[in-house]
Amino acid sequence: MKTLSFATTAYLKRVASAYGYFDEAAREYVVTRPDTPLPWLNYLGQDELFGLCTNTGGGYTFWRDARLRRLTRYPYNGSPYDPGGRYLFIRDGTAVWNPGWKPTKASLDRYECRHGLGYTRITGARGGVEVELLLFVPPGENAELWKTTVRNLGDAAKELTLFSYVEFCLYEALNDMTNFQRTYSIGEVEVEGTGIYHTTEYRERRDHYTLFGCTREIAGFDTSRDVFVGVHNGLHEAAVPLAGAARSSIAHGWNPIGSHQLDLQLGPGEEETFAFVLGYVEQRDGKFERPGVVNKERGRALLERYGREGAVDAAFDSLRSFWLELLSGFQVDCTEPSVRRMVNTWNQYQCLTTFNLSRSASFFETGIGRGIGFRDANQDILGFVHLIPDRARGRILDLASTQLSDGSCFHQYQPLTNQGNTEIGRDFYDDHLWLILSTCAYVKETADTSILDEPVRYADAPDGEETLLHHLETSVAYTLGHLGEHGLPLIGHADWNDCLNLNCFSTDPDESFQTAGDVAGSRAESVMIAGLFLYACRELAGLYRHLERPGDGERLDRLHADMLAVVEEHAWDGDWYLRAYDAAGAPVGSRTCEEGRIFIESQGWCVLGGAGRGNGRARRALESVHEHLLTEHGIVLHQPAYTRYYPELGEISSYPPGYKENAGVFCHNNAWIALGWCLLREGERALECHLAICPSTREDRIETYRGEPYVYAQMIAGPDAATPGEAKNTWLTGTAAWAFVTISQGVLGIRPTYAGLSIDPCIPRAWRSYRVSRRFRGVLYEISVENPDGVCSGVRSLKVDGQEVEGDLVPAPSGKERVQVEVVLG
Ligand code: BGC
Ligand code: NOJ
Repeated sequence: MKTLSFATTAYLKRVASAYGYFDEAAREYVVTRPDTPLPWLNYLGQDELFGLCTNTGGGYTFWRDARLRRLTRYPYNGSPYDPGGRYLFIRDGTAVWNPGWKPTKASLDRYECRHGLGYTRITGARGGVEVELLLFVPPGENAELWKTTVRNLGDAAKELTLFSYVEFCLYEALNDMTNFQRTYSIGEVEVEGTGIYHTTEYRERRDHYTLFGCTREIAGFDTSRDVFVGVHNGLHEAAVPLAGAARSSIAHGWNPIGSHQLDLQLGPGEEETFAFVLGYVEQRDGKFERPGVVNKERGRALLERYGREGAVDAAFDSLRSFWLELLSGFQVDCTEPSVRRMVNTWNQYQCLTTFNLSRSASFFETGIGRGIGFRDANQDILGFVHLIPDRARGRILDLASTQLSDGSCFHQYQPLTNQGNTEIGRDFYDDHLWLILSTCAYVKETADTSILDEPVRYADAPDGEETLLHHLETSVAYTLGHLGEHGLPLIGHADWNDCLNLNCFSTDPDESFQTAGDVAGSRAESVMIAGLFLYACRELAGLYRHLERPGDGERLDRLHADMLAVVEEHAWDGDWYLRAYDAAGAPVGSRTCEEGRIFIESQGWCVLGGAGRGNGRARRALESVHEHLLTEHGIVLHQPAYTRYYPELGEISSYPPGYKENAGVFCHNNAWIALGWCLLREGERALECHLAICPSTREDRIETYRGEPYVYAQMIAGPDAATPGEAKNTWLTGTAAWAFVTISQGVLGIRPTYAGLSIDPCIPRAWRSYRVSRRFRGVLYEISVENPDGVCSGVRSLKVDGQEVEGDLVPAPSGKERVQVEVVLG
């Protein structure tokens, strides 16, 4: 057998890492060998049906809720890392191989995976046969399509057998992976034509099924995993492909799967194209067509729809246009490739994904444990609102309805029910403030102030409704009602840093750091929440001025001034802002501490909230971050790392040094520092911090970094770790939204304000020009920025459609769809 020949010179010319490259024009990341340092993931789906899909086809599919409506099964943390997925087995003579390499890992003559916007295209070739598999979910459809093309590249006729494969999940993913005394007896299927219908629990309370069908004639099928794979086999040695013939098995309990057998005859140079359809069908009426037989009408219609000539291609075209149109709302042309790649494609794409999935389903989140987080989702909106403002609006109102009448919030809720749950507890005393940030961002983007008057119930008062604006005021009031002895906000179980548990004092390994400990009557205060409160007050004051309620604006200004005085008096440590006061009143993040002397979050938020201006502290604080926390892998969360467990600090000191919240590079908060530098008009520093965590700059160090070079990671191990520079928890992280805010609003300076679009760049001096097109309130602004004198910031002149304008605000055009904006810095 041939060995893998991925490193041919033809590849190397375009390959930017040993594993792949950015195809900027196609907006794809091209993976050129399958044995990536970790499985590299993409997401399929944009509305309700989602799939996780790695570069070898691994992953699973679910409808809306990865726990309650899991369609295909996925075993976790096993070996290999992605032990299940969508597989095609090709049998050519006696050889069995997979175009995506896994699970057989039979050597390929050619392999390529193109992860694109909502689709993944995997091509593998062996022995003169090439198979291309294009996986995607058409917009508005509850089905994953697998467009499959089989090509005979040789000059002799080929007889091939192809087997498809998915393993069904019995819908409730937690039960499915734990409760075998029940689940091994309930799995059911029906087969009709090419359609394999997975119908577990359908007789009783479910009225949905999963359909796995094929648009081409089949020669056989299997639905029993025991038969297709074999009880003692792994997927890499699945029995049916090895034997070469399907056995028409029908699953009764145990583990139902879906597999088709297709017999293909291809003359020299011939190819054949067909598609598999993995659909989710809800039966609204008529569950059965006759007693005991599932009504398959909708399933048949789905298969028929994509069986029509050209239907699959048309669906793919509509997916492409959907994404291109969406992303066209913000495009940049500049000399820095990392900025172009991330802004134009990947960062915006990741923002949409985090908006859709919050922290639920990735390779680091099982999709079982966490719903939509209150603070997470509010921050996700900041990077998403320009894409589909209407959906941001709906989310803001959903979030507000999980707030309680005292202003506190459910920390998370299930997307299927919109009900807050207390699994992770309550009393994170930052949660409520993020609602102010998301709401203001929405109004600035859209000018739609009607959202403020929308009636939204409080979760503990289902009968009464108040306006969204009332919720924002309740949020402010909650912080004011929960101040500590220095006048700083109390921290509760934790603030943004879930692991700084100052009231927890846990010594029991069987309890959660996030819920343990009593916060009633607690003393510990958070400087980060103080900074966030300062910021929120300014946001709300601005909103009131926009609403022509100057009195309320002044009230918020006074709250800002009062908190600012407290921060400057009690939170300055000499060279930086303290992080907190613990439950005994001792400072956290102070030069007087043995470990954890300086923290990143309070520097970022105090500066963003307007502290340290006019007294030099803002600059001093950021310089301290630069000096003590910036590393070649990004800015670490604090220094020195905690080397022992401090019960008075909680989970933060439970991680080995350099990982996660214990002095790892927690990428999310790096953006706050970059934005801080923008406020101080330091373009070099801002871009340096922005790029320090940017995955596309890691291609030359990919063996160390390991994560996907096209999406931000939650965490990169810091220098204190055993594996510095190694990324973990890619995809579902608030880093996506904040990175986009930093680059689009901070560095490129294209900033939505209540009054209109403002242009206020903060770039490195060496940048001589760039262009941005930005859709804003229905108008496309084509902005060119020239920097003839090599400055960082300062708009010298602004022309709108050739007319000189004062200041940096682009006046709203009347009746135009496109506006040319020329900006000269100096
Ligand atoms: C992690 C945090 C996470 C929290 C949520 C902690 O173990 O370190 O990053 O937010 O769990 O459950
Ligand atoms: C991840 C959580 O999703 C987020 O809410 C939290 O702020 C960070 N971890 C930091 O602990």
